[in-house]
Amino acid sequence: MSENRPSEGQPISGPDVAHNARVWNHWLGGKDNYPIDRKVGDHVTSMFPSIGEVARADREFLGRAVRFLAGEARMDQFLDIGTGLPTADNTHEVAQRVNPAARIVYVDNDPLVLAHARALLTSTPEGATDYIHADAHHPDAIVADAKATLDFDRPVAVMLLGSLNFILDTDTAVDIVGRLMAAVPSGSHLVITHPTTELGGEGNVEAMRFWNENATPPITARSLAEFTRFFAGLDLLDPGIVSCARWRAAPVDGELPPIVPQFGAVARKP
Ligand SMILES: C[S@@+](CC[C@H](N)C(=O)[O-])C[C@H]1O[C@@H](n2cnc3c(N)ncnc32)[C@H](O)[C@@H]1O
Repeated sequence: MSENRPSEGQPISGPDVAHNARVWNHWLGGKDNYPIDRKVGDHVTSMFPSIGEVARADREFLGRAVRFLAGEARMDQFLDIGTGLPTADNTHEVAQRVNPAARIVYVDNDPLVLAHARALLTSTPEGATDYIHADAHHPDAIVADAKATLDFDRPVAVMLLGSLNFILDTDTAVDIVGRLMAAVPSGSHLVITHPTTELGGEGNVEAMRFWNENATPPITARSLAEFTRFFAGLDLLDPGIVSCARWRAAPVDGELPPIVPQFGAVARKP
């Protein structure tokens, strides 16, 4: 485990202020959260009732994307930035079920995620996991630390699920993704989920305003045009940019899952 400049733009995390990693854990039905997280999270749910479905659809997308990457795409290295608190089917568990030799580096800047990181370090003996306490604003430092576990001369799957929405300036967020993808070779992949006020997410505008006034870190939604910028120079894999609930989802009783206002996509570096 290592730490590098974890706290830029990050107010102190504690039981007095609702914090995203813990509220996300509450929406996923977890227990690693404080009363203030449940209070703010439930208020957001009252304003934007589908937020719990968004969180679950995002995790199900993670499962499908990582199974595809570790299997068909033969990726055995993963850099998961904005990991969140450990929950069921963390990235290493999904990947190592497909390929026990998979190596995963987790990155988050929330001190509580650091405190629970031991649950992310339960690698198979053939593979490896590591945790870096760091801020996504410092992609070069993250890559430097991740080199202790990952071989950047071989393809890496870079994952930013529900985390770029905390990089408020779009040019900065695009630059961070560009630096990460510049550090990995051809054959690497990029996986992103991101909230939007499109795809029926108009109700999210007020809920996000409430969040930004009452919780941390501040969040932003992005349009399809903005989200598309993250994939410049990469080959988007089928079905392209869709609601994460629909990305390679199997129909149930002939019906695809309902759309949630969260984009999801996977792309390959040519
Ligand atoms: C919505 S949760 C998503 C968790 C997980 N990736 C998922 O999809 O279920 C976002 C996570 O990103 C982390 N995060 C937010 N801003 C970050 C930053 N600047 N650097 C690193 N992690 C960040 C939060 O602490 C939180 O754990």
